Amino acid sequence: MSGPRVRQPRDPAAPLEGARITLCVGGGIAAYKAAQVARLLDKAGAIVDVAMTKRAQKFVGPMTFQALTRRPVFTDLFSLTDEANIGHIQLADTADLVIVAPATANIIARLAAGAADDAVSSVILATKAPVLLAPSMNVNMWSHPLTQANVRRLVDVAGYKTVGPGTGFLACQWNGPGRLAEPTDIVEAAAHYLSVQDLAGVKLVVSAGPTYEAIDPVRFVGNRSSGKMGVALAAAARRRGADVRLILGPSAIPPPLGVTTTSVESAAQMQWALADATKDADVVVMTAAIADYRPAHAADQKIKRGEIGQTMTVELVANPDLLAELGKARGDATRPLLVGFAAETNDVIENARKKLASKRCDLVVANDVGEPGSGFAVDTNHVTLVDRTGAVDVPAGPKSVVAHRILDRVVALRSGR
Ligand code: PMT
Repeated sequence: MSGPRVRQPRDPAAPLEGARITLCVGGGIAAYKAAQVARLLDKAGAIVDVAMTKRAQKFVGPMTFQALTRRPVFTDLFSLTDEANIGHIQLADTADLVIVAPATANIIARLAAGAADDAVSSVILATKAPVLLAPSMNVNMWSHPLTQANVRRLVDVAGYKTVGPGTGFLACQWNGPGRLAEPTDIVEAAAHYLSVQDLAGVKLVVSAGPTYEAIDPVRFVGNRSSGKMGVALAAAARRRGADVRLILGPSAIPPPLGVTTTSVESAAQMQWALADATKDADVVVMTAAIADYRPAHAADQKIKRGEIGQTMTVELVANPDLLAELGKARGDATRPLLVGFAAETNDVIENARKKLASKRCDLVVANDVGEPGSGFAVDTNHVTLVDRTGAVDVPAGPKSVVAHRILDRVVALRSGR
C-alpha cells in the first residue's frame, strides 16, 4: 500500500510547480469556467486530475479537460475502467489540494451530509488533502439558510476553505452573490493554501506607486512608477499569510485579492494613510516612489497658457521623508521592521547603504533603475538586498518572484537570522 502523499509547504514563488491538484467539477453553468481553472493550473506547472459529476458533463465534455490536462478524466465511480485506471482513492491520496469548482448548492449539501455516491463526492470524502470550495449558484440558493449552514459545517467541522462566490450578474438573470470566483482568484487561492505560511498573522504595510503633486486641477509633478513592484509585494505577502495593508498611489494595476487597499494621490495623503496603517504594523515595506518635492502653491483653477508667457516657474518645496520619519519614530524599538527601497542610477549599493543608515531601516532594496528590464514600469526587476550584515544580489526576474526573495529576507530578519 502506497498511502497518502506527504504534503510539504511549498516555495511561495512557485507553489503550483509540480503540485498535484484534483479538480472536482460540479454540475452548474459555471462548469465551463472550470476549464480555464484547469488551464491556469496546468500553465503554473501543476499536475491536474479532473473528476466530474454526471451533471457537470451535461455542461462541458470530459474531452475538454482531458485535452487541457493531458490526463484521463474520472467521471464514473461505477465504471470498471475508470476505477481500474484512475480510482477515487488514488485521486484522493495523491492530491496536494482538492479544488471543487463550481461547488453547486447540491454538491455542498451532499458533502455536508458526508455523502460519497459519485466520482466527485467519493474523492472528496476520501482525501486527507486540503479542500478548496469555489461556490457558484443562484443568489437565493446561496443565501438560503440551509446552504449557509452547510458551508459553515464544511468549514468548521471539516476544515474546508472557500474562495468566493463573487457578486454580479448571474446566468439565471439575477444580480447578487453567487458568481464563481474568477479563475485567476481560484488559482491564487490554491497557491496560497499550498505555500509556506511564514508570514501568517504578520501585519504588513506596503506603500506602492507614484505620488502626484498638484500644480493646478489638471497638472501635476509625478514620476514613472507604475505600482507593479509594490502590488507584487502585497500579493506575495498575502500568499504567505500576512495581513496586508496596501497604500497605493495613482496606478492602473489592480490591487490583489484579500489585501486592504487605501488609494492616495499625493505624498501628504500617503503620509496620513501611513500614519494610520503603521500604528500596529509588524513590517513596513516602502516601495512607493514618493515625490521629494511638491509645488509650493497649487492653483485652484487651471492655469491658462496665455497668462504665463514663454516660461513658467513652479516653486517647489520639500516633502517630508516618510520613511525617515518612520525610522525616527521607531527609535531603538525593533517593531515595525522597516524596509526601504533605493532607486538609483549610479553607485547603487553605496547609496543604498547610506539610505539604510540615514533612514534607520533594517533592509534596503537597492534598485538600479538605469538597467534595462529593471525598475520603473517594467514587469521584471533586478535588486540587491542591503542590510547591516552585507549585500546579497537577487537574480533578475519577474517582480512577482523578486517580491518573494525580498520577503524571504524579511522573514529571516524577523527571526533574527
Ligand atoms: O512601481 P514600479 O513601476 O514597479 O517601479 C518600482 C520602483 C522602481 C518604484 C521601486 O522598485 C523602487 O525603487 N521604489 C523606490 C522609489 C524611490 O522613491 O526611491 P528613493 O531612493 O527616492 O527613496 C528611498 C526610500 O525613501 C524609498 O523607500 C521611498 O519610498 C522613501 N521615500 C522617498 C521620498 C519621500 N519623500 N519619502 C519616502 O519615504
